[in-house]
Amino acid sequence: MSRSRTNSGAGELLVELRRETAVPLHQQLESGIRERIRQGLLRADTVMPSTRALATDLGLSRGVVVEAYQQLVAEGYLVSRTGGYTQVAPAAARAPQAGTKKQPSGPPRIDFKYSRPDVSQFPRAAWLRSIRRVLNETPHLSFAYLDGRGADELRMALADYLNRVRGTSALPENMLICNGFAQGSRLLLQVLAASGFQRLAVEDPSDNELRDVAETAGLKTVGVPVLESGLDVEALERSGADVVLVTAAHQFPTGAVASAETRAALVEWAGRRDALIIEDDYDAEYRYDREPIGAMQGLAPDRVVYAGTASKTLAPGLRLGWLILPSRLVEAMAAAKVVDDRGSPVLDQLTFADFVARGEFDRHLRRMRPRYRELRDALVDRLADRLPDLKPIGVSAGLHVMTWLPPDLSEDAVMRAALDRGLGVYGLAPYWVDRAGPAGLVFGYGGLTEAAVVEGIDLLADAVASVRDHS
Ligand SMILES: Cc1ncc(COP(=O)(O)O)c(C=O)c1O
Repeated sequence: MSRSRTNSGAGELLVELRRETAVPLHQQLESGIRERIRQGLLRADTVMPSTRALATDLGLSRGVVVEAYQQLVAEGYLVSRTGGYTQVAPAAARAPQAGTKKQPSGPPRIDFKYSRPDVSQFPRAAWLRSIRRVLNETPHLSFAYLDGRGADELRMALADYLNRVRGTSALPENMLICNGFAQGSRLLLQVLAASGFQRLAVEDPSDNELRDVAETAGLKTVGVPVLESGLDVEALERSGADVVLVTAAHQFPTGAVASAETRAALVEWAGRRDALIIEDDYDAEYRYDREPIGAMQGLAPDRVVYAGTASKTLAPGLRLGWLILPSRLVEAMAAAKVVDDRGSPVLDQLTFADFVARGEFDRHLRRMRPRYRELRDALVDRLADRLPDLKPIGVSAGLHVMTWLPPDLSEDAVMRAALDRGLGVYGLAPYWVDRAGPAGLVFGYGGLTEAAVVEGIDLLADAVASVRDHS
């Protein structure tokens, strides 16, 4: 086996040198560095190790490294800077190689992809104040492993907030902090499957991700149609489900609100069948023309698991979510959370607790509501002007709008024509459960500016016209 030496251990630059070959060491060093720059592994403006450090590191004389650097400077791969250091040249950034595959085109210039709040409005200053307070005031012990339910402070702050704003009946001891709805729902479905639940009813149409999670947990999923008044409870009766997931306050994606009758019928169903309701309250904070309906959890705390998230209100990257659990599920859920990840990051939890308890969350939402409302109004108005046959359905709420498509337009054709114009729009097809329902579009507007929303609808009108011209 050939002997080689690299500086991969403590070194600043990984280069392999083969001392037994006839190729001079400075050339080996040059080609090693050249290749790394070409492959994009050493990026433009990276500061190279000093010649002295690299020579020591690789067991070379400094002259060998100087010679290699000089050659690469001459070739334009490196530049020497005043101050005596050397950098990877900006122009040496990786160029597309002949014969490589065409890069996929970038993301659409204007994108109506759903589930994007305006993260540029994240309340950094207030969040920073909360972080500072937490770091200054929190006792050391709070940074140890937590109870599986999460930090006491956050469970208390959220219980108060939800009882006040969402009409829940939450006790801090029944709350569990999780990494968003994604983790909370996964753990819940696993716990339910392990305790004998068998069949999960989901709204049809609805978010599709959870169905796979349910199947993996061992639950059969069944779709139940959504009416204008919320879930079709008679169809739920027939489905044989023992647990149902609903977005009662603002159905995703249709935007329907479950009526008082629907909510009462759901609770009655759950009591009679000894069944459970999972209430995904993902965007209830955003209501633009009416008071939000209270959470169902407040009607039947022992039959409803309430799920909330900071993904729409603050930022999805925070990965902060919460559940209010019926008492009989608390222990198993806390244990499942510990097994899964030993708890959500404590500093984030304590920061959020301080943020909520000091009223910053309310302030942030008061600031964001009119912004989102303006975006929604701009979208709906422009649709009415430019595409009057794409009528929005659902209430004025949340961060998305849905429209049906007229029968002469297919989702695929519209999405393709839009993409050709740098516009991302998204069809309803993935949301149907076990039937191919009518065609429609779901517009997420949370992360866009008003100008982009208006331009986006203009581009869509152009796309739709071209689809019609070619059909
Ligand atoms: C219907 C629905 N529920 C919940 C969520 C929030 O998920 P998470 O808290 O995991 O970010 C989303 C996010 O897009 C959603 O669309």
